[in-house]
Amino acid sequence: MTLLIDGKKISAAVVEQLAIDTKTFIAEFGVTPGLAVVLVGDDPASQVYVRNKVKQATAAGFHSTEHRLPADTGQEELNALVEQLNNDPSVHGILVQLPLPEQLNEPEIIRLIAAEKDVDGFHPLNVGALASGMAELIPCTPMGCMIMLEKTLGDLSGKHAVVVGRSNIVGKPMAALLLQANCTVTVVHSRSAEIEAICRQADILVAAVGRPEMIRGSWIKPGATVIDVGINAVEKDGKRRLVGDVAFGEASEVAGAISPVPGGVGPMTIACLMKNTLTAARQQVS
Ligand code: GUN
Repeated sequence: MTLLIDGKKISAAVVEQLAIDTKTFIAEFGVTPGLAVVLVGDDPASQVYVRNKVKQATAAGFHSTEHRLPADTGQEELNALVEQLNNDPSVHGILVQLPLPEQLNEPEIIRLIAAEKDVDGFHPLNVGALASGMAELIPCTPMGCMIMLEKTLGDLSGKHAVVVGRSNIVGKPMAALLLQANCTVTVVHSRSAEIEAICRQADILVAAVGRPEMIRGSWIKPGATVIDVGINAVEKDGKRRLVGDVAFGEASEVAGAISPVPGGVGPMTIACLMKNTLTAARQQVS
């Protein structure tokens, strides 16, 4: 029987613990953790993500603000907002939703966010800390995947983990976390040869490419644990549906455990953003 890795259930437990930790933190320091979420433009998927992030932050007992800027916002205007949030003591975490419209320089914004408020873990100082095993703020999606894997498998030592995709948001930090957990890690990407054969060697397969149902059942080693990070909107039979990077029906016949889309990694990402916001607040008050 294939185990369904239920992100809703696992994230609910994370959020429940977080609510307890947040209460303790507020009682101890008299400070409410604050999260500022910035959205530039009107990308519908980003709007949904941002709304969910703000809603969850409020539910966790945080002070949460949403900053919406028009699609034609200039660099100086966005920089000014980030600097204002950097200097605001009621804001402990800043998240600028990516991707940004093309006139904006993404690396410049990532670098401008104060490293201690970088709840995405994308600032070069936090990326370096992660690479050297000293991270406090870990990118939310890979952190969520690790929680799911550890909940499913326990100790990951010695397992062969294959990460499909090398983005700064998921693939690269995911590989760093798996390595830290003593996995043997292979990263494959659009220029890799023999992707299928490499995937078939994976005890743990993490798919983060953004290509609907690219990974077929035949790419999966029987009994493997599969984490599907993709969230792709597709039209099927005239209806809009969300599918992952893994062909779920086929894959679930081969895998030992698999996360669904939706209801897998998505809710974990938001729960981990809340964890990072509390971590950031703790660092800033103590
Ligand atoms: N866009 C897609 N995923 C993310 C994320 O984790 N953080 C931010 N800031 N933007 C994203």
